[in-house]
Amino acid sequence: MTSVGFPRALGTCYYPEHWPQEVWAKDAQMMVESGLTWVRIGEFAWSRLEPKPGVLELEWLEEAIKTLTSAGLKVVLGTPTATPPRWMLDKHPDMLAVDAEGRPRGFGSRRHYCFSHAGYREESRRITAILAEVFGSSVAAWQTDNEYGCHDTTLSYSDAALEAFQDWLEARYGTIEALNAAWGNVFWSMEYDRFDQIGLPNLTVTEPNPAHVQAFRRFSSDQVAPFNRAQVEEIRKWSDAPISHNYMGRVTDFDHYDVGADLDIATWDSYPLGFLEDRVGASSERQKAFSRQGDPDFQTFHHDLYRAVGKGRWWIMEQQPGPVNWAPYNPAPLAGMVRLWSWEAFAHGAEAVCYFRWRQAPFAQEQMHSGLLRPDSAPAAGLAEVRQVASELAAAPQVEANVADVALVFDYDAEWAWAVQPHGQGLSYFDLVFEHYRALRRAGLNVDIVAPTIRGFAAYKAVFAPGLMHLSDDLRHALETADCPCVFGPRTGARTLDFEMPVPLPPALSGLDVTVTQVQTLRPDRPIALAGGGYAVGYIETLDGSATPILEDTSGACVAVQTQNLIYCGAWLDEAGLDRLVALVADSADLSIRSLPDGVRVRRTATQEFWFNHNAHSVDTEAGPMAPASVIWRDL
Ligand code: GAL
Repeated sequence: MTSVGFPRALGTCYYPEHWPQEVWAKDAQMMVESGLTWVRIGEFAWSRLEPKPGVLELEWLEEAIKTLTSAGLKVVLGTPTATPPRWMLDKHPDMLAVDAEGRPRGFGSRRHYCFSHAGYREESRRITAILAEVFGSSVAAWQTDNEYGCHDTTLSYSDAALEAFQDWLEARYGTIEALNAAWGNVFWSMEYDRFDQIGLPNLTVTEPNPAHVQAFRRFSSDQVAPFNRAQVEEIRKWSDAPISHNYMGRVTDFDHYDVGADLDIATWDSYPLGFLEDRVGASSERQKAFSRQGDPDFQTFHHDLYRAVGKGRWWIMEQQPGPVNWAPYNPAPLAGMVRLWSWEAFAHGAEAVCYFRWRQAPFAQEQMHSGLLRPDSAPAAGLAEVRQVASELAAAPQVEANVADVALVFDYDAEWAWAVQPHGQGLSYFDLVFEHYRALRRAGLNVDIVAPTIRGFAAYKAVFAPGLMHLSDDLRHALETADCPCVFGPRTGARTLDFEMPVPLPPALSGLDVTVTQVQTLRPDRPIALAGGGYAVGYIETLDGSATPILEDTSGACVAVQTQNLIYCGAWLDEAGLDRLVALVADSADLSIRSLPDGVRVRRTATQEFWFNHNAHSVDTEAGPMAPASVIWRDL
């Protein structure tokens, strides 16, 4: 997965419709002078492009594109479908997404549409076709919609979703008898006579059948890719420019690999300080230590994930340049962090980093969100660092090959399965994979996150595949036959495709004699100590079989076992436990690992080694002394 051959560049997100036309040219000139190449526009402008149904006003956008491009900028045009205008609701009153409590999501912000609504999907295709025809040859890249799934909008319990779900089930199971058997509906007399009797799995008296919920999760995800594809089809008729979508941090309600399959570039929106407060799940002590720098691993996890989603090509479409407006607390980045975040993205193979947004808006919901300019157009604090990155990039303009040591499988289906049946509070697949990722980064390793559709691991020295609750036969075979160490578990193959416990009991791996005979979840204050250091926390399995123990608890019970290349770990390990597991794997894999100072991370490209100090204090590293919030690199 290399990305050689693309220039590294900077950009920004701009809303010409927010500002008088007189300032566009000056803005464009200042963007260019600041070293920016890309400008994304248009993604929320539907009410100005089509103020009344069928009445198009595209001249202002044409003018804006002309102004920006003649200043030397390249335009990414966003389709405006995340913000259907108010008249759309009069036209399609049933287009709103509906929440799990059965309440329609109201008009007055954004993303109020249901992915299953056929009428809205056609409207979105229609406006995209118009923009593609008019602007197809004047823009340099496209963005479909904006942040699919944002504000909890993938799952919708609308009538449109209900009908589409019933059709989806019929197409999948063929007969109602097959569905009843697959879901085990004999339990609690849940058997159906017809597909049109099946409801959505909300508002049931107690928990719905997990097979029903998992089917609904898969169905809901399956609504997103065709919605996106409809836009891609229209754009490709008129334009050769690459098409992207901007994904988010820790939004996992749809399968991003599926959407990415139709696109040329994956982009994502990186708000490190907002995320730290809002979704990383770090301890309050770490939140305090990194409150102005962000989590040292959360951003790069997404860089590595979206590199896979983008089939090697990825950008940051929105980079936080100062305080945001939406987290519980919104501090300013520590001096140096805007530069650090930008370089970290490039070190992970980003082709572009675009800052959100050019100028802070003095009106509406995001008044308190900083930009590169203040509302009075004076430079805000982040702009100086952006300029510095721009001048540094001039000396290092090329994205270098990605070099990976380890593959880490990330599977959206497993994320839903863990959420459907966690069996213990706080057990999330995302966290499990992320904690493995952190441990690999603490050891100084380069990680490729890979899709569960991967069938060969020849490029890697080790594979980690924790938590794959349903394992397809093909992936199982690829992992079992990898010619490098491969770590499974916990919960590998714990459920069939239809959410049944398989017999023979999991993990049923060929080449590794181990059986999970019991699973238990643990209170946070009842971890189980491992002999030699570390703990099992939250979750542990009882393992039986002849494979060689490599980790045991203090009573001598097996926690992880190995036969040749295959390793199974039957517990959720804490940091010390995961560090031990990584060290054991590194030993069998001939991987050299490091012990990095807390908050320091390393990333190698084909030609350079980058060092990042995320701490608010200086540190001494192998690469030399590092100032707070700094990056240094050396040639290899
Ligand atoms: C993103 C979104 C932008 C803006 C930004 C604020 O999620 O794509 O439109 O709202 O957040 O941080």
